Amino acid sequence: MRERLVVGNWKMNPPNIADAVELARAVAARPHGGVVVGVAPPTIALAAVADALRGRDIAVYAQDVHWEERGAFTSQIAASMLRGLATGTIVGHSEVRRDQCDDDARVAKKLARVAESGLRPLLCVGESAAEHGAGDATAVVARQIELDLAGASRRGLERLVVAYEPIWAIGTGNPATADHASAAARAVRAALKRAGLDADIVPVLYGGSVSARSVAEFAKADGIDGALVGGASLDPDEFAAIVRAFG
Ligand code: 13P
Repeated sequence: MRERLVVGNWKMNPPNIADAVELARAVAARPHGGVVVGVAPPTIALAAVADALRGRDIAVYAQDVHWEERGAFTSQIAASMLRGLATGTIVGHSEVRRDQCDDDARVAKKLARVAESGLRPLLCVGESAAEHGAGDATAVVARQIELDLAGASRRGLERLVVAYEPIWAIGTGNPATADHASAAARAVRAALKRAGLDADIVPVLYGGSVSARSVAEFAKADGIDGALVGGASLDPDEFAAIVRAFG
């Protein structure tokens, strides 16, 4: 049985550190029925959230990381800086690909650094609206997996998590169908196998307009082991309902 995992990606939403801590406490206070739960606060709130969740069974993730160990990289966060604060980090989120010009070569360097650092990598892949319209979704995610894993040691990827997040479904209120997500998960696992990984143990999450209303079909979708939740993770009751759906 693969691990069932639900992570809330808070993006740039909690307006300040105190609000992020309050949200973290609210998430921790709700039952999660055996499902592994994680939260990814904004970087500035990582330390305070990690502190608030110490001793609780909620994993803390960073939203991104730089590929270099240290140096003249203004504004960036190194993997070593996350030690003690985060158990893992998101890499390759489509908003970072879009806003910070991350291409697969940069994502590959980040993933390699995360794998080497002992942090748990949560790699995001997913097709654009145009690629979706052209029927290229599975080819796009397979190619992303191939390119993004190119430089990482296989040992460092033993705890890899992949989130399939079709870009056209993020923040639109228009999630993919469960069948579409399952087909993408199959393509992800086939690509992981080609890259030499034991794909059967890698949790594949679905992300893109997951809500308490839409979660049920993903919770029973073949090959989908959890969710990466954006907007709905900001409401602790709705997030708890999404978590429990995977229990
Ligand atoms: P939404 O759940 O707001 O669509 O965001 C999904 C996402 O990008 C999570 O990383």
